[in-house]
Amino acid sequence: CGIIGYIGEREAAEILVDGLKRLEYRGYDSVGVVTEDGRLFIKKGAGKINELKEKLGLAQLPGKRGIGHTRWATHGIPNDVNAHPHTDCTGKIAVVHNGIIENYIELREELERRGHKFKSDTDTEIIAHLIEEELARSKSFEMALRKALLRLKGSFALGIIYTEDRDHLYFVRNESPLVLGIGNNEMFAASDIPAFLPYTNKVVFLDDGEYAIVDKDSFVVKDLETGNIRDKKIHEINWTLEMAEKQGYAHFMLKEIHEQARAVKDAIHGNLEIINKVAEEIAKYEKIFVVAMGTSYHAGIAAKYLLQRLANKTVLVEESSEFRYEFEDIVDENSLVIAITQSGETADTLAAIRLAKKNGAKVLSIVNVVGSMATRLSDLVLYTHAGPEIGVAATKTYTTQLTVLMMLAIALAKKLNTVDRKYLMNLEKQLQELPKYVEVVLGYENKIKTLAEQLVIKRDFFYIGRGPSVATALEGALKLKEISYIHAEGLSAGELKHGPLALIEDGVPVVAIAPTGKTFEKMISNIQEVNARKGFVITLGDNEELKKVSQVFLKMPKIDELLSPIVYIVPLQLLAYHLAILRGNDPDKPRNLAKSVTVE
Ligand code: G6P
Repeated sequence: CGIIGYIGEREAAEILVDGLKRLEYRGYDSVGVVTEDGRLFIKKGAGKINELKEKLGLAQLPGKRGIGHTRWATHGIPNDVNAHPHTDCTGKIAVVHNGIIENYIELREELERRGHKFKSDTDTEIIAHLIEEELARSKSFEMALRKALLRLKGSFALGIIYTEDRDHLYFVRNESPLVLGIGNNEMFAASDIPAFLPYTNKVVFLDDGEYAIVDKDSFVVKDLETGNIRDKKIHEINWTLEMAEKQGYAHFMLKEIHEQARAVKDAIHGNLEIINKVAEEIAKYEKIFVVAMGTSYHAGIAAKYLLQRLANKTVLVEESSEFRYEFEDIVDENSLVIAITQSGETADTLAAIRLAKKNGAKVLSIVNVVGSMATRLSDLVLYTHAGPEIGVAATKTYTTQLTVLMMLAIALAKKLNTVDRKYLMNLEKQLQELPKYVEVVLGYENKIKTLAEQLVIKRDFFYIGRGPSVATALEGALKLKEISYIHAEGLSAGELKHGPLALIEDGVPVVAIAPTGKTFEKMISNIQEVNARKGFVITLGDNEELKKVSQVFLKMPKIDELLSPIVYIVPLQLLAYHLAILRGNDPDKPRNLAKSVTVE
């Protein structure tokens, strides 16, 4: 999850460990350092930096160039062997990596067939072996590196060191951040500026598809495809350490909201190879339960619509805390239980999984934290690949859960032949475009900020939707409650006139989530019910008709209703965030709430 590289005149190890400590806030489970002094010196292990510094002598490795890494597991559980750096068979090339290699299963099998022996379960190790192979038939290390990297699909930021190329370090960026730090007779590279900020504030941002060759007093950046030199600008950063940790954003939550286009992309890439295999294993189940809590429960509500509409399955969504007491006699060996939990440690969800296992059900978990308890208890796991989430209120873990669930529903539909092929292909195409749509709605932030200023005096909010948008209504309301402490209710629009409508009076905000779809007309009627009571209507949709029935209309990209929850929640997260700020709350640490509830 964090990379730092150093080359200069000082002892590298000390600087690397120090830099890694400043990346600790990002979350990690393992640590490793490699330095070079005639040969490579590597120390690594699972655990905390300070503890490993003592135990392994991380900061005592010899040499004036090296790379450090903190890992947040994506492929392979957190343990000593899976910690980075990873080396090739000769032990001369070491690699650290952030991100996900999408085609790693294919590449690993290919390398194994040619005799490469792997030590770890990571996707990273294949990179060292690929470079090793290319080196045998290339003129230079740089050439070998380029050839190897062009075989990789997915997202990666890499730091690479080769014993025999004594004056250089290599860094690569593709859809995972990496910056160079320019010092005096020393150079740095890191996934994040805080790592080297005490040494230099002169930085060069690498762009996707670029690599840098760095020696102690110069650097060159080139294009990975062509090998051509790229002109790079040196920026001076005036951030404090605290600002740098949030990449200039005021809060982690805001940073995480803005990371969603990238996170959704990683969720797609990280599951492409495995999703059909999982679909294969669960296709036969007709008795399907989804268990989760909080935001993950809302992803479960969306999942119900996806699985019902695309795979013709009947799905029951239950809060884990209810499921574990009410379904003892119902869940059985013919049941599939899908547990959704970003942390993989929520006590009630773990209890629900244990009950399901005890009764012989098949358990599939959708989890963000690799190696967490839920992953160890389950038969099958799909990871959301959102990266660590620091803000207590879930944002990018939610949109990535939805992405993975959508992929699963599509894979099941393909396998079961339950919907029209053409329609499915169109959905798949739109799925690939999701990061782009998320980017578009992130661009509405200023408009939403103004809306928040207008709404800050309001005391009660209602969020309504139908079909998959019920999930968006519930989650939009939850975000508002969690961080702004304003009372909010999310409900299916059909329920409105069975009670809540009594609360709608002049100026009460009602957020209507109304993508084009099965029940669009019905939504218009529900919106009119609100208008008749002089409610303040805010609509989110792609149909301009909505403008006529709303005080505020947010034009959303045109996207299939089933995929819309992933895009539509983003402005609602931003609305909750800006209302929280206007009310003087710290959105990263809402009162009375915890990131992961490990008590029952
Ligand atoms: C806590 C968090 C929520 C989260 C819920 C479930 O309440 O504050 O943001 O949605 O737990 O957590 P899980 O890790 O199981 O997804």
